[in-house]
Amino acid sequence: MNNWVTAVFSPTGGCSKIAAAIAGARMGARVDLTAPVTARHLAPGTPLLVVMPVYGGRLPAIAVQRLREIRGNDSPAIAVVVYGNRAYDDALLELRDVLTANGFKVVAAAAFIAEHSIARSIAPGRPDATDMELAVEFGAAVEAKLQVCTDTVAVPGNPEYRPLPQMPVTPHVTEACGGCGMCALKCPTGAIPSTNPRTTDAGKCILCMRCIAICPRQARILPPPVLAGFTARLNAIAAEPRQPELYL
Ligand SMILES: Cc1cc2nc3c(=O)[nH]c(=O)nc-3n(C[C@H](O)[C@H](O)[C@H](O)COP(=O)(O)O)c2cc1C
Repeated sequence: MNNWVTAVFSPTGGCSKIAAAIAGARMGARVDLTAPVTARHLAPGTPLLVVMPVYGGRLPAIAVQRLREIRGNDSPAIAVVVYGNRAYDDALLELRDVLTANGFKVVAAAAFIAEHSIARSIAPGRPDATDMELAVEFGAAVEAKLQVCTDTVAVPGNPEYRPLPQMPVTPHVTEACGGCGMCALKCPTGAIPSTNPRTTDAGKCILCMRCIAICPRQARILPPPVLAGFTARLNAIAAEPRQPELYL
């Protein structure tokens, strides 16, 4: 069976790894939520796997907006969030609510851990081999459940979601920039003009870190004092490794 439609927002790759492990050979059509999405309706029996990162305890708003283009018809959905070892707060509940409002029955959910894409010294090497094994087992368990029933699951979170985070900075561009425009091409929000990739539109940037991760010259960076302060704050509250949580 390879009919699981898989929708993923993964600027720096953590969510993609988890999605691939959960779906395995069941992965059918892929929807990349880091790019604009065309509207589609899923048939009643077609499962949708959605994997999104946690930003400030919420989902990235642009990813939610694109996910709303995928509509179900009482179709089963698997809601998964991936976070950088601090907390996922209201993000999993938000994902379940968005999917339910879009005509899906959320039959399974999970929260996995990946390297923190801003402070990369937090949860380095996650997802590790144990996380990946668990993700594979979770996928098999979801498939087994789908043979039997489509009961929905409850997930933690406060229905009065935390406010969406405000991003304090945009990436800086150093003199190493060769102007290749890769960052402009791959920016999920169109915040980097292709005509002038040395700039960033602060109104559009969600600090997803993709431009920093993919720049072939490492010319995009966070201002070092900002990164140091952020990392120190996280070290104080997110050093102890968290474990994945599964809801079936
Ligand atoms: C803007 C931003 C906000 C984040 N907020 C949180 C958070 O609230 N809690 C947490 O544990 N991790 C947080 N993270 C870390 C990401 O959730 C984590 O690194 C995730 O794996 C990124 O997914 P990706 O690798 O697919 O891009 C944040 C990352 C970014 C870029």
